[in-house]
Amino acid sequence: MRNKLRILLFFAIVQLFLQGCSDKKSRLGELPQLGKDKVEDVVAAMTPEEKVSMSLGNSDWSNTPIQPNPGFAGYTHTVPRLGINTTIGMQGSGAGVLVSEYLDASAEIKLDTNVNVVIAKSGDSKKKLGPFYCTAFPNTTSLAATWNDELIEKVGKGMGNESLEYNSDILLGPGQNIQRNPLCGRNFEYCSEDPLLSGKTAAALVRGVQSMGVGTSIKHFLANNQETNRKTQNSVISQRALREIYLRNFEITVKESKPWTVMVSYNRLNGRYTCENPELLDSILRKEWGFEGVVITDWTCGADAVAKVSAGSDLLMPGEFIEQNQLLAGLKSKKLDAKVLDRNLARVLTLIQKTPRFKQYKPSYKPNLTENAATAREAAGEAIVLLKNSNALPFSGVKNVALFGKTSYDFIVGGAGSALVNNAYVISLNEGLRNGGYQVNKPLEEWYTNHLTKVRAEESKKLTWWKWQKYMISYYPEFVLPKPMIAEQVSKSDLAIITIGRNSGEGWDRREDDFFKLSETEQSLIRNVSEAYHAAGKKVVVVMNVPGVIEMASWRNYPDAILMAWQLGQEAGNALVDVLKGDVNPSGKLPTTVPMQYADVPSSKTFPNKVIITDNGYLANGIPEDTVPTLYTDGKYEGYAFVGHRKVHISTLPQLYNEGIYVGYRYYDTFNVPDACAFGFGLSYTTFEYSELKLSSPTFSGKMKINVTVKNTGKVAGKEVAQLYLSAPDQEIEKPVQELKGYAKTKLLQPGESQQLTFELDARSLASFWSGISSWVADKGSYEVRIGASSRDIRLKGSFSLPENMVVEKVHNVLYPNFPLDELNQTKK
Ligand code: BGC
Repeated sequence: MRNKLRILLFFAIVQLFLQGCSDKKSRLGELPQLGKDKVEDVVAAMTPEEKVSMSLGNSDWSNTPIQPNPGFAGYTHTVPRLGINTTIGMQGSGAGVLVSEYLDASAEIKLDTNVNVVIAKSGDSKKKLGPFYCTAFPNTTSLAATWNDELIEKVGKGMGNESLEYNSDILLGPGQNIQRNPLCGRNFEYCSEDPLLSGKTAAALVRGVQSMGVGTSIKHFLANNQETNRKTQNSVISQRALREIYLRNFEITVKESKPWTVMVSYNRLNGRYTCENPELLDSILRKEWGFEGVVITDWTCGADAVAKVSAGSDLLMPGEFIEQNQLLAGLKSKKLDAKVLDRNLARVLTLIQKTPRFKQYKPSYKPNLTENAATAREAAGEAIVLLKNSNALPFSGVKNVALFGKTSYDFIVGGAGSALVNNAYVISLNEGLRNGGYQVNKPLEEWYTNHLTKVRAEESKKLTWWKWQKYMISYYPEFVLPKPMIAEQVSKSDLAIITIGRNSGEGWDRREDDFFKLSETEQSLIRNVSEAYHAAGKKVVVVMNVPGVIEMASWRNYPDAILMAWQLGQEAGNALVDVLKGDVNPSGKLPTTVPMQYADVPSSKTFPNKVIITDNGYLANGIPEDTVPTLYTDGKYEGYAFVGHRKVHISTLPQLYNEGIYVGYRYYDTFNVPDACAFGFGLSYTTFEYSELKLSSPTFSGKMKINVTVKNTGKVAGKEVAQLYLSAPDQEIEKPVQELKGYAKTKLLQPGESQQLTFELDARSLASFWSGISSWVADKGSYEVRIGASSRDIRLKGSFSLPENMVVEKVHNVLYPNFPLDELNQTKK
């Protein structure tokens, strides 16, 4: 008995000792620390208040605003007792990094991003550091127009370098919503109408940025294809169109480049806010695609913080009081599952650990601006698309150029909104020409610059809103140039260039009249200049400095050459002159079709065009909301609601995506609708021959390799983008007549030089989404491989067969539309 007692006592002492060791941390007041202990342990040691604060961003709008770097769009909170000493700093977009001109953690200054003005706190103006500038790279659409993943990755590295050196952990881009309609205000931040090109462009950019040790946020997930009523609008889309078009590009980017974060969008999708939808954020993004990063919300989106967190929105940006209260109440009432919050927080803490700030990287505030400007110029050169050339380009015997159009002298660097970049300069076309050794016709230049100065002085008195200040000229109508002025220039110049400028931005869509169509002044400028110069046997070039495609059919016969110059960033003028001169042979191709007229766009029937009222309360032409009646949209009343602290319009009308899968060329090519310029189209100063199409096998069994040879048959060196379209059999479900399934760009081929390009098709490239069984299915039958220079310039064809129907992948049956759709199909033709 005694022995037994001794043994029991012995074990009790051992147990107490062991327990003592494991409790040592807490006994000694040591708490788990981020970076040393498991993130789950750190989360477990948090109070409910700390948990809630860490799931919300930290900004001016939250209760404990911090501004370690003024001008950033958002931060996370800290919990120093648990080693969460650093925040994540987020800013920028797919066009570059947005930094404040004056930026330093030690300087007690504050920059209001919206006004772009430095507000120094009392008496500390001497502390201002800087100015600091970033590189305005070509915008995302321009990057997609290069079709050059390697070059896009290089641009990404430049953005990554600037993020890192300016102390930003996450670049808030790239945007990659499908360009469903040319009027979408943010198309310039997006890549293409095609999911493959969009997915690959964004993936290349993400790879580049993240290779520098900073994160990205692909956005806006999902179906944020319009800005009108963006915070309440409901995109109603069939499961098939979602899978094949709107989700597909994000899927490619997530799988190929593993972005650190995904930014969930403002809008509703099939009835639910995307940020409150676990089908989207959990079933698809995480379970199907294997996303392991953090889902952040767009800035003030959705309506219910508990719903957002429960759905898998890990970090609510920028963090608002109301959300804090909602989450604390949710935890108390158990409406919010504490385990779900912990799961989200573990992801947020894992992300924090990856950031340069957490790793105590010392930013230099001196990024490689010179090198990055050279990259911006290189990318801009490859993004320019030559749309017409009747022996006008490259320049030959040109010394003196007459520059028409206000934008020639005030180039539009990029779109408005959060994609704004604090660039040091923009090379307009007049400067670019001078840098390239040309003379710019002086009296004409003076006429335009005097007008610009006058407009700036007058308009700055009227307009105070930041978009209009920074981009005032880009929204101002074209100046009416007296006809005699045009006549005077002809004898004094060898050639005329007319720049057509357009801008658009976040928060509102454009209209057919003020954006897509050329104004009467622009039309007559093109007509009059062309007639005057042609009468003297001289050439005319039109340069389009636009955020996306616009109408061309009505005027394209006048000029001799047309260049699509997008919004090419700060080096635009130099890059254009590289192309005009012939130092760079154009190799860009259209990432989006140019329709003949707006009415041809398949979504034109439903896309907001007449009514342009936004959450910012502005009409497209900038009239503040209180000066317009509240009754609109075909007579239907739209009311107001409060989302967060903001008054927003409630869209009572769902946006029905009745065109289904027939977006862009999928529509024009299938329904034989003529276009002004086809998807994938772009001319060169040389010619290319396509030959030797070889398929690895006559039947498909898992993979198919396709080789093709491209030869430069012209007189100057050039690059070519070859595109692979697949025409699939429609045994079970109808298909677009062809779809892009691969593309490759040659190196710079010298005259006479050839290169073999290789494409690979996997089972998913053959498959379409069959909603009835919620699966990707490849139909049996004959598949035609079409290798083309554009979707409408197919050079070679081959075929292979698939002996049996193949269910490639079964996925969750989710995201069912909450409104009946009347989808377009081929029997309805
Ligand atoms: C935009 C986002 C942006 C965020 C922070 C929002 O208004 O929709 O794209 O990243 O602001 O700047």
